[in-house]
Parts: sequence; C-alpha cells; structure tokens
Amino acid sequence: MTPSDVKATLSFSDGSPSMDLPIYKGSVGPDVIDIRKLYGQTGKFTYDPGFLSTASCNSTITYIDGDKGELLYRGYPIEELARNCDFMEVCYLLLKGELPNPQEKKDFDRLVTVHTMVNEQMQFFLRGFRRDAHPMAVMTGLVGALSAFYHDSTDVHNPEHRAIAAIRLIAKMPTLVAMSYKYGIGQPYIYPKNSLSYTANFMRMMFATPCEEYEPNDVLVRAMDRIFILHADHEQNASTSTVRLCGSSGTNPFAAIAAGVACLWGPAHGGANEACLNMLGDIQKQGGVEKIGEFIKQVKDKNSSVKLMGFGHRVYKNYDPRAKLMRETCHEVLGALGLQNDPLFKLAMELEKIALEDEYFVARKLYPNVDFYSGIVQRAIGIPVPLFTAIFALARTVGWIAQLDEMIGDPEYKIGRPRQLFVGSKPRQVVPLAKRA
Ligand code: SDX
Repeated sequence: MTPSDVKATLSFSDGSPSMDLPIYKGSVGPDVIDIRKLYGQTGKFTYDPGFLSTASCNSTITYIDGDKGELLYRGYPIEELARNCDFMEVCYLLLKGELPNPQEKKDFDRLVTVHTMVNEQMQFFLRGFRRDAHPMAVMTGLVGALSAFYHDSTDVHNPEHRAIAAIRLIAKMPTLVAMSYKYGIGQPYIYPKNSLSYTANFMRMMFATPCEEYEPNDVLVRAMDRIFILHADHEQNASTSTVRLCGSSGTNPFAAIAAGVACLWGPAHGGANEACLNMLGDIQKQGGVEKIGEFIKQVKDKNSSVKLMGFGHRVYKNYDPRAKLMRETCHEVLGALGLQNDPLFKLAMELEKIALEDEYFVARKLYPNVDFYSGIVQRAIGIPVPLFTAIFALARTVGWIAQLDEMIGDPEYKIGRPRQLFVGSKPRQVVPLAKRA
C-alpha cells in the first residue's frame, strides 16, 4: 500500500474536532481511506451493511474492474488464462503468485494427484445422508469432516500445515463431489486414477462405472477445466469473505473452507447457476421464447420476488468477462455434441438479447454474470443441476485457500470483529414473572 499525498479530512457539524484520515493507493483500482483510528478518536463507527464501500483487506491475488468488466488473477487477464492454461497452472498461480515453468507444473500436478484419495472412513459420513440430500448439504458436511482426519495439517498458523492442507483440499474436492454424486444415484464410488489429468480424473470419477472402461471426451474435459478456471477466485465475494472471517479466529483450514462452501450455496451467490437453469426450464415449460416478455414483466414487478437469475453483480456494472468465455464454451460444447439447437441455449441467448435492450436492465447495469451460461454447459456435459454449485465450490476452493493463506500470512491481520448501530431497547428492568401482566 502506498500512502497518498492526499488525505481525507472528516469534520462534524456539531463542533466535534475534525480528523485527518490517511488515503492509500493500490497498484490498480480505487484508493482506500484508512478508518482504523476513527472509533478510537471519535467514538463513532462507519456504517456499511453489505460492505458496498468497504475494503476488508489488502490483497495481491485477484483484481476486478467492474466498470470495464475486467478480471485478473495475479495480474493475468482471465481471457488469457482461460485460453492458454489449464486449471492446475491457475491453481499454482493463485497459490504462489507466478505461473509454473514446465518442471514446476509437472511436480505440482504430481503432488496434487497423489493426494486425490480420501480416507476410506469418509464413506460412512455419506451413508448418514438421505440419498436425495442436496449435494451442497453433503459437501458442507464432508469438507468440515476432513478436519477430523488430517491432524498434521490443522494448525493454520503453521505455513507447512497450510501448504499441505491446500494441496489436500484442492486434490480431494473432485473426489468428494464425485462421491456425493455417486451416492445420490446409488452407483459405486470410482477411485481416482493417477494416470489421468486433474479434470479428466474428475470426469471419470463422475461418469465411469466399474463395469466398463471410461474414455474421457477431450472437448468436455477442456470445457470442465475452463469452468474450473473461470470460477477459481473472485476478490472478496461473500464466500471468500466468509472464509477469511472464519479463518481469522485461527480455526483449521478445512473448517474455514467448509464455511465458504455453506455460504456459496445461497442462490444470490454460487447457487445462482442452479437457479438460472431452473428459471430457463420454467420459461421453457411455460412456452419458451414467446413467454420471455411475460417473465421479464414479472421480474420488473417490485411485488414479485422474481429475479433474472444469472444477471446482475455487485461489482460488474458491465458484462462479466467470465460470462463471455462461458458463452464461447457453450458454443464449443453444444457444437461438439451436436446440440447446437439446444432449446435452453437458444432461450438463454434470446433472454440475454431482450434483457440487454430493456431499459430496466440497462438502467441498473444488469449484465449476464458467470452463472448465466455455466449451467447450460454443465447440463450439456451431463452434470445434474443440483451438482452445479458443488462444482463451483470445487473450483473456488483454490481461491478460498489462497485468500486464507494471504490473510494468515499477513503479520498485521487480526480476528475479524465488526461492530453495529444498535437500534434496540434501551436498558430496562426485569419484572418478575408473577408480576408481569
Ligand atoms: C456470483 O461477488 C461475487 O464476486 C460473486 C461471484 C463470484 O465469482 O464469487 O461473481 C459469483 O455470486 C455471481 C452473482 C450470481 N447471482 C445471481 O445471478 C442472482 C441474481 N442476481 C442478484 O441477486 C443480484 O444482482 C446480486 C445479488 C448478484 C447483486 O445484488 P446487489 O449488488 O446487492 O444489487 P441490488 O440487489 O441492490 O440490485 C440493484 C437493483 C435493484 O433494483 P432497484 O431496487 O434499484 O429497483 O437491480 C435489481 C434490484 O432489484 N436487480 C435485479 C437483479 N439483480 C439486481 N433485478 C432483476 N434480476 C436480477 N438478477
């Protein structure tokens, strides 16, 4: 952080003494006003529910320019990473700050590969769930349960523990997601196969059965790998902020990531891809493209709670660059599968076209986000809709870990403990029960 030569002066109309607040510049993006001394000097808090104007930390990992629709991981534009790298390279980049050279890539791939199995006891957690449990309910439980198995990597203040926990989480998420899927459909679990790439391994654990050999389809593997890259990290979003706040208490990395999984599940966040596909399915059932106008009317009706799922974003007030790449992948995958005329994809493109021309959406700068097309791609690949958010969690695990590691590694970090504006009852006396009316 570079101190700015400009400072902010806070003055009060009630004659309270004013105070100067330092301003810091980042390498790119908005400056920040340092209010850390505000309460101590004025007895006042700032007030920012939803954190629309609050920077919770300084970070070197991911930068988003919402107005330009730009997303950078460690300075590299997401478009370049999606077109030139695989997910393991992106994991290495997010964790270590630089792209790996060929030897580093080979070693990292191998290190992750040899950690893809989970303890055989994990199966007994799954058996406790109903077969129709939502995969995110299962994943919240399984990820938290990992802390019961790896006592040699639960001290979040030990950099070696954090390093091995990072590899274990990245390596085991695909295995756990595939197990939650297989459990739900009553098929046997498929063990990881070390000769396959990370993403091909995941696809095999998802779709193979012990009865015959499974040949991964390269186009679908590449599409899945791109979905992982596009979802890997995204600055201080709700689930990442959850992981940071949870981890700030010193809890173990597995518990902190389990908190991120729980937060991501929400339909306003990672659950939007599932909600978006269900929305497209509903419009399709009601008549398809002809019904879009009626649906948009419901969305604009303040009395209805209907939202255009997959649209809008707290930061992007332009097109989410990930949505553009996801739409490109849609074309590739549907083309490769001979599904160019997929009715839901056509419906999605028509809905996008209408929304982008509609004043309601234009005025509110509502553009498609990463979730708008990701569901269509996943459905084409054969991923069941309820598993979409679990796959988002699989991909985001590396981002959560990199952010947690950055926070714990910062000597200045403290346990997060926000304050409040209290608007409840002033102090009052208890009336004994016998005397209460
Ligand atoms: C993700 O933060 C991240 O980075 C998240 C994420 C990541 O990678 O981690 O990018 C992943 O979560 C993407 C977002 C997925 N969510 C959805 O697609 C759900 C639908 N979107 C909305 O719920 C909403 O857009 C949010 C939650 C994403 C953002 O909401 P904000 O920033 O709090 O904005 P808002 O709710 O204050 O909306 C501003 C206006 C309101 O209208 P007015 O009150 O001004 O009249 O826009 C309207 C909202 O009603 N609006 C929508 C809308 N989103 C906002 N109207 C219809 N459909 C929508 N989708």
